[in-house]
Amino acid sequence: MAKVFKFENISAINFVDLPKEDLYKILEIRNDPRISKWMYNSNIVSLQIHLDFIKNLKSMPSNAYWLFKEQDTILGVGSLTRINITHKSATLGLYKNPELSRVGDKIIQGLEHIAFKAFGLHTLILEVIESNSRAINLYKRNNFCYAGCLKEFVYINKSYQDVILYQKINPSC
Ligand SMILES: CC(C)(COP(=O)(O)OP(=O)(O)OC[C@H]1O[C@@H](n2cnc3c(N)ncnc32)[C@H](O)[C@@H]1OP(=O)(O)O)[C@@H](O)C(=O)NCCC(=O)NCCS
Repeated sequence: MAKVFKFENISAINFVDLPKEDLYKILEIRNDPRISKWMYNSNIVSLQIHLDFIKNLKSMPSNAYWLFKEQDTILGVGSLTRINITHKSATLGLYKNPELSRVGDKIIQGLEHIAFKAFGLHTLILEVIESNSRAINLYKRNNFCYAGCLKEFVYINKSYQDVILYQKINPSC
């Protein structure tokens, strides 16, 4: 897999190729309550668990995580997981640098570039907690289509919450 994908002035650098200082910054972003509160697991992640997770990615070709940068500015993180070569499908995920606003479009467009152009995937899917309106607006704005609802699928803040599925088919297929 390429170490860095570039499009316009944005770089997507694979977690497994990042220097330690970037890995620390990712952990800081991941543990920021403005970001973690929208994750299935909103617990604080320790440095050891974070580094082990990244080490394990080297032996998991179906899961890839990238740090997105515009020149030296960290925009956020994007991922393709459950990459399935037979079905040409994957699950998309992302979170932004909480100090920046309106960078979701750049990350999602970068992920689509990797998924559809570089990997030649046919379909992307994603899951989002139904109360996460900023994320849902981002997906709709980028032409992801509603694909269903998983009723009471996650237990967060002492209640079961619905999860909405969205999908996008490679526009050039
Ligand atoms: C989901 C996420 C990536 C969306 O990022 P974003 O689209 O760049 O938007 P922001 O979070 O910066 O939101 C800033 C505001 O600008 C709006 N906005 C952003 N881009 C916009 C655009 N191109 N046009 C119009 N409005 C826009 C947002 O809707 C939001 O409005 P609000 O404050 O009234 O709610 C980001 O909010 C995030 O990382 N959230 C935490 C993690 C997360 O939820 N990940 C997704 C899990 S499925």
